[in-house]
Amino acid sequence: MTHKNISAGKRIVLGVTGSIACYKAAELARYFMKRGCDVRVVMTESATKFIAPLTFETLTHNPVAVSFWTETQPGAIGHIELADWADAVVVAPATADCVAKMAFGMGESSVLAVVLATKAPVIVAPAMNVNMYEHPQTQENLQALQARGVAIVEPEAGDLACGWRGKGRLASAREIYLQTRRAMGPQDLLGKRVLISAGPTREAIDPVRYISNRSSGKMGIALANEAYIRGASVTMVHGPLPGGRPSVSQDVDCVAVTSAAEMSEAIQTRVFDAPRYNQPDIVIMAAAVADYRPAHPAAEKIKKTTSDDSLSLHANEDILASLGRRRGEAASPLLVGFAVETGEPHKVISEARHKLSRKNVDIVVGNLAQDAFDRDTNQVWIVNRRGTLKHVSTCKKITVAREILNQVVEDVEPDTREPEQHLH
Ligand SMILES: Cc1cc2nc3c(=O)[nH]c(=O)nc-3n(C[C@H](O)[C@H](O)[C@H](O)COP(=O)(O)O)c2cc1C
Repeated sequence: MTHKNISAGKRIVLGVTGSIACYKAAELARYFMKRGCDVRVVMTESATKFIAPLTFETLTHNPVAVSFWTETQPGAIGHIELADWADAVVVAPATADCVAKMAFGMGESSVLAVVLATKAPVIVAPAMNVNMYEHPQTQENLQALQARGVAIVEPEAGDLACGWRGKGRLASAREIYLQTRRAMGPQDLLGKRVLISAGPTREAIDPVRYISNRSSGKMGIALANEAYIRGASVTMVHGPLPGGRPSVSQDVDCVAVTSAAEMSEAIQTRVFDAPRYNQPDIVIMAAAVADYRPAHPAAEKIKKTTSDDSLSLHANEDILASLGRRRGEAASPLLVGFAVETGEPHKVISEARHKLSRKNVDIVVGNLAQDAFDRDTNQVWIVNRRGTLKHVSTCKKITVAREILNQVVEDVEPDTREPEQHLH
């Protein structure tokens, strides 16, 4: 099986306006291109004061549109042609001035004209001084755009070029990319609530030592990103990961836990105790939950002794099995588990199938520890209760995530809740 990048061939018009964050737009263009997108840049006159069109022409291998009056192709109306060509129009960085003009439907620059003329999704990533961003008029303008279906990528908080601290820094290239992908669809998980567990857990021996495992959380992160791109509302319950917040969209609700008991509590309250409209439709247990914990964690650091010592362990709760048991015969949430083995593929497949009935789950993803742990790639075998067996040969974890979610979309029940309840 060959795995094509989901973004390959997507046509992105990048509108660059006159912000000090213009230099980041060059990196953003590259970010889209690295994922297989074809990028064409259109700039305002102000933006050319911050970065030269030549930079974008060189990076994208495409001409850059700046002014209506220097459009190059005879007979073609450049901004209309760009607007029709786009699969998505991304305005990044978007100035307060541009946001205001967009909200009023003005078309005095090529960027504004493309935004007005396109039928493709529009994504706006503002970047400005915190007081400009928080100004009621700017907020009103952004809300007006959002109400018309424009995706607003919230700026980050931090030190700003103007010397102020606060919200106004252009969102990361990854965030803008993820939100653009989501806007482009297909949104086959729109309206679905997906809860994903990720990473290892830590079981304390004493205040400075713990038992854990080599899980990196990358599979769970890939699943969260893919579910988000496909329109789901995503919650991620994760154990300790390097760098703190996992590299998922700012729209993903991240819940950080440490031990298996904390993870179990965080997941089970969300699955069973939350109001019905907030309960997940799909739970994917990608975390490597520790099977054992020290029976008697010490309150004080255990002193080193010269003699050998032993540690007594208690078995942790099997969270997936508990979810299966508590759900019983109900169809929701759809439960997806992982089975990790260290032997041969046939052992993985039989263990995965065994887990389906033993734990009362709907889909099990079998994989080998040597393929999966700490790696950016994986190969998996996906089994479900209807006897399906799909082998996904070694590929990036985001592609594995896509294959898993393809199976989820096939197997998940249609939603029976009242439509207005989704608004909560
Ligand atoms: C040095 C400098 C930095 C600026 N940075 C920003 C900025 O980050 N965000 C913003 O909204 N405006 C910023 N401005 C103001 C805009 O450039 C100005 O509103 C301009 O008219 C925007 O034009 P445009 O929206 O057509 O690109 C800056 C101006 C200067 C001189």
